[in-house]
Amino acid sequence: MRVGKEMKNVLRFLFVFLMVFLVGCEDEFVGKGHRIFNRYCSPCHGESGDGTGYNALNLDPQPRDLTDGAEEYMVKLSNDEIYEVLEVGGYGVDLSAGMPAWGKTFSEEELWSLVAYVRTFHPYQGDPIIFKKPDSEEHVFSKEKPRYSRVRPQAYYDLLESTVGDDEEALNEQVALGEELFAERGCNACHVVNGEGGKLGPDLTRAGFMLQTQFIFRWILNPQAFKPKTRMPNLDLNQEDALAISLYVSTLKSTATEAGGDMDGGDPDEAGDT
Ligand code: HEC
Ligand code: HEC
Repeated sequence: MRVGKEMKNVLRFLFVFLMVFLVGCEDEFVGKGHRIFNRYCSPCHGESGDGTGYNALNLDPQPRDLTDGAEEYMVKLSNDEIYEVLEVGGYGVDLSAGMPAWGKTFSEEELWSLVAYVRTFHPYQGDPIIFKKPDSEEHVFSKEKPRYSRVRPQAYYDLLESTVGDDEEALNEQVALGEELFAERGCNACHVVNGEGGKLGPDLTRAGFMLQTQFIFRWILNPQAFKPKTRMPNLDLNQEDALAISLYVSTLKSTATEAGGDMDGGDPDEAGDT
């Protein structure tokens, strides 16, 4: 049977209406989690949560399939366990550091909103998350964002002086340590160096030409202090680790043509950032 053109338009209208209605019905906090997820998590986990974001293939192990498509996994985790891995990252709970820490980037309420949204990907019948007490406007979790304060350039120079001074041996040790930490802390999940790594952030193969070491140090200690909406999380590094990592990154000066090194690349909707 052919459906007439008018009928089609009516159906299309009903469909759009239904979608708007359904999205409108999304709980306030699930909705908040949804928006954060799409911007910060979907590059790895995919918008549908199945672990197939554009950056997934650059990671080993792969991002978790949050829909439990192949096995029951997420459904067995408690809300607190999910919260903890979001807060301290894979590095903090002995999973892969490819899963970043978000506890220094988002407020407690935002993190719980993410847990609530993650729960919508798989069938879950357990305890709901209480954001507001019944008949009360009072929020249960803190809405306060972590502080986004910049570290002064002098902090870098002081630490460099006390750790390295003009001892070349000590400098080489720092660079070697920094290279290890770069992988251990999951920088490589988002950044390519010499053709390997994730593509969520810019290729750092030539970062040593482009950025001052003191800036790299201050940036990685608190990216949000420079760019509040950046997709790069604050990984809660201490200054000693940040020094080693920034000294390592400043040695990246490959001149090989295939190395790329487009410092503006890797962020598909950069335009929407500001
Ligand atoms: C750079 C890629 C990347 C980003 C961005 C990312 N994840 Fe992950 N995520 C991973 C990887 C890789 C794993 C698997 C870790 C493992 O199994 O060792 C993972 C695992 C998880 C898990 C399962 C944890 C467990 O206990 O097994 C959850 C939940 C999760 N991610 C949620 C999120 C949320 C929410 C966000 C956004 C705030 C996010 N992820 C952002 C890569 C990423
Ligand atoms: C979840 C992904 C992610 C992780 C993990 C990550 N970054 Fe980034 N990084 C980004 C993104 C995205 C940008 C682009 C910043 C922007 O313009 O918003 C960036 C930018 C940078 C820059 C360039 C800043 C500039 O102004 O050009 C450096 C250097 C950097 N990251 C180093 C690191 C180091 C070192 C680590 C590990 C400690 C790390 N990143 C971890 C995503 C990530």
